[in-house]
Amino acid sequence: MVNFAVQFNSMALAEEIKKRKTFGIIAHPDAGKTTLTEKLLLFGGAIQTAGAVKSNKINMATRSDWMEIEKQRGISVATSVMGFDYKNLKINILDTPGHEDFAEDTYRTLTAVDSVIMVIDCVKGVEKQTEKLMEVCRMRNTPVLCFINKLDREGRDPFELLDEIEEKLKIRVQPLTWPIGMGKTLRGVYNLYEKNINLFEPSKNKRIDEVVQIQGVHDPALEQYLPKSALNQLKEDIELIDGVYDPFDEQAYLNGSLAPVFFGSAVSNFGIRELLDCFTQIAPNPKPRETELRMVPPMDPQFSGFIFKIHANMDPRHRNRIAFIRICSGQFKRGATYYHVRHDKKYRFSNATAFMAQQKETIDDAFPGDIIGLYDTGNLKIGDTLNEGEKGLFKGIPNFSPELFKEVINLDAMKSKQLEKGLMQLMDEGVAQLFTYEMGARKVVGTVGALQFEVLQHRLLHEYNAKVNFSPINIFKACWINATDKSKLSAFVKDKYRHIARDKEGKLVFMAESRSWMQMVKDNFPDIQFHSISEF
Ligand code: G4P
Repeated sequence: MVNFAVQFNSMALAEEIKKRKTFGIIAHPDAGKTTLTEKLLLFGGAIQTAGAVKSNKINMATRSDWMEIEKQRGISVATSVMGFDYKNLKINILDTPGHEDFAEDTYRTLTAVDSVIMVIDCVKGVEKQTEKLMEVCRMRNTPVLCFINKLDREGRDPFELLDEIEEKLKIRVQPLTWPIGMGKTLRGVYNLYEKNINLFEPSKNKRIDEVVQIQGVHDPALEQYLPKSALNQLKEDIELIDGVYDPFDEQAYLNGSLAPVFFGSAVSNFGIRELLDCFTQIAPNPKPRETELRMVPPMDPQFSGFIFKIHANMDPRHRNRIAFIRICSGQFKRGATYYHVRHDKKYRFSNATAFMAQQKETIDDAFPGDIIGLYDTGNLKIGDTLNEGEKGLFKGIPNFSPELFKEVINLDAMKSKQLEKGLMQLMDEGVAQLFTYEMGARKVVGTVGALQFEVLQHRLLHEYNAKVNFSPINIFKACWINATDKSKLSAFVKDKYRHIARDKEGKLVFMAESRSWMQMVKDNFPDIQFHSISEF
């Protein structure tokens, strides 16, 4: 007999999944990520203040400046989540910290998205941080869409920019819009995808709302909108594009091997509609996710999700934290009891928050692709899986080898317990990574940027009453090690005992002092595998 309730629920779930597009927005600092995010929210109707980048920026800052240290430094450490509705879709944007010291936070956020928009400054081209971020996208074949920003400035030649993306980011590109002029001569963008044109009024730096519908570049109607020289250049460019690039291959975009490229100017609100409209058509819906046991499709009726970020102590008077969970399958229901795989225990989640534009609101349910905040008193940590009872943890939320290392020096022996607790909790939040040497139990903290040591020192003192110093230590890289032959691994550990530590999960790590020495050790121990990420 057909179970109509089950059938109805599954149809409703399919509808919800079809509506969701969850993406991250990434860039080298200053490329215009914050501005573009605001403009996307504006187009989506989620915020109302047009052109008020500055004031929005302040609002955004106060909204995400939960930690005192952030306020002091004026750096948005937080990865914010913003949801909005657009054309009957539910779009979830995950903003990421621009500051490179917080790159690890960004890397982890990328595990929670289904695609990425990468913002590139047309004057500066591909920058260092952009390259690193692309590496992370490539690890998971995340579909990437590029937005070349600041067209209102005298930028580099668009063809040259495309070549640079292909070369430095090692991904094929396909322009879907094309700039008509740049800087002072910017006239508009030609939409190669929809074959229409969006004109730009250079004197006022503002968008003309009306998009001109044309039949390709040879439509005589274009002559009334563009000066002859601009039109000729456009025709030449389009001819070249048609000759060089194949027709848009959506599948190649979806498997992460081709990046569609859009041009625009976020600050002048220009080229955003083209980006958003195309994004909503081609960007992927929530995809299946892998656990230790199986692939979990979003349509699986059982709820599941994983924690990718913990935001702590938003109110310093209470030791409360918000754990950000990405929902992978089924339906999350507020008040329900879910299984915490690592603890092998069930917890009730009566307080769940969704992040809509600039507000947080309590929600009753959520679906695959959604990111919600769960209030937590210390049970959850990054990488945790919640579900309805299955034992497997979600894969793909690894730690990366840090780049800077310092030894923790306890300045108050009476407060060792507080220090221990503080370190553990801050590591759970992913502020840094802790390595404990096998010999002498020395504790070393590894981070991506220098700023985290200050954050740690400040938070240990103010939240845990533990006073520490960080003393420089000569480490080049932490490598997770394993070997097929366990006796070979034991022999290696014995031989290099002074350089062996364990990460917080107890996994074996080789602390290499220099690049050349590490290479030598690798050559001398061919049976040992060295990994720069904790999941292998
Ligand atoms: P980020 O989040 O990627 O770090 O960049 P953000 O949006 O904060 O933008 C960095 C700077 O670039 C800002 O200027 C911003 O106004 C400017 N910007 C963003 N988009 C465009 C654009 O399309 N054209 C031009 N010309 N500039 C753009 P700022 O001087 O740092 O701040 P503000 O005082 O202008 O807000």
